[in-house]
Amino acid sequence: MDFKDRVAIITGAARGIGESTCWAFAKRGANAIVVDINGEGAERVASEIRAKGLNASAYTTDVADVNAVNAMVEDVFEKYGRIDILVNNAYISGGYAIVTETSQETWNKVIAVNLTGTFNFSKAVAAKMIPTKSGKIINISSGAGVNGSLSSGVQYPASKAGIIGLTKGLAGDLAPFGINVNCITPGLIRTWEPEEMKEQATGWTLEKVARYIEVEVPLKRVGQPEDIAETVVFLASAAASYIVGEVINVDGGGMLDSVAKRESLLGF
Ligand SMILES: NC(=O)c1ccc[n+]([C@@H]2O[C@H](COP(=O)([O-])OP(=O)(O)OC[C@H]3O[C@@H](n4cnc5c(N)ncnc54)[C@H](O)[C@@H]3O)[C@@H](O)[C@H]2O)c1
Repeated sequence: MDFKDRVAIITGAARGIGESTCWAFAKRGANAIVVDINGEGAERVASEIRAKGLNASAYTTDVADVNAVNAMVEDVFEKYGRIDILVNNAYISGGYAIVTETSQETWNKVIAVNLTGTFNFSKAVAAKMIPTKSGKIINISSGAGVNGSLSSGVQYPASKAGIIGLTKGLAGDLAPFGINVNCITPGLIRTWEPEEMKEQATGWTLEKVARYIEVEVPLKRVGQPEDIAETVVFLASAAASYIVGEVINVDGGGMLDSVAKRESLLGF
């Protein structure tokens, strides 16, 4: 898959799945536009990509700030004259609390970044793609948006379910203009360092991750950022040109009723 001279905007790209996605596009010839609220992290990713002789530039942008998003998209369009691909990946979780302890502030913030941020970028970029009658938008949701999550409170699954609905709405709107909009629901992807896991407020520990993989993931391994990045690249490629409004689980079979789950729950 060749993306020579294509311009790909990836949000939440200072680390994790977003960083990996920048590399996946840059290695295939694209210009990776590394967007993050963490400007230092975005600069690091872009300069590491450029150090390999590939193309990338960094933008410090809060996806929830519609004026900042519009200005950033205008700037990219002025500089490169095109935007071919948008990956809406930035997110925050808001941590875990039972609904009665979930603050209005947490709810508003998570919806603003995860859902409204995806709307903000999709709207601004769609305006640039429509006249060209081409483009690819890939939204990163989560298995939590389909099944809920016992460790993420209510705000995160709600925002991620919203992204699935937003994908469907955008897909129907934009397909007549030759723009494919699709969505990925990752399972558990290893984007954390072991030390971070200890600090998290979600209740996850390395032991729980190991047990989760044993019971919930038939493939018996944790997902890697590249597992998602490669699916994004596929959806952005000509090979996926007839896929529209689709939600693709990339979770090692986590949504299946598996032998391990049956054994764990029922003893057979
Ligand atoms: N890692 C997993 O197990 C997993 C599972 C399911 C879904 N996902 C989804 O995959 C995506 C990436 O996850 P990850 O684990 O790589 O995340 P991560 O925490 O490693 O990276 C998220 C990035 O988003 C950035 N960000 C946060 N708020 C922002 C804002 N307002 N504006 C711009 N950038 C902002 C952060 O600075 C960070 O660099 C998310 O949408 C997440 O919901 C991840």
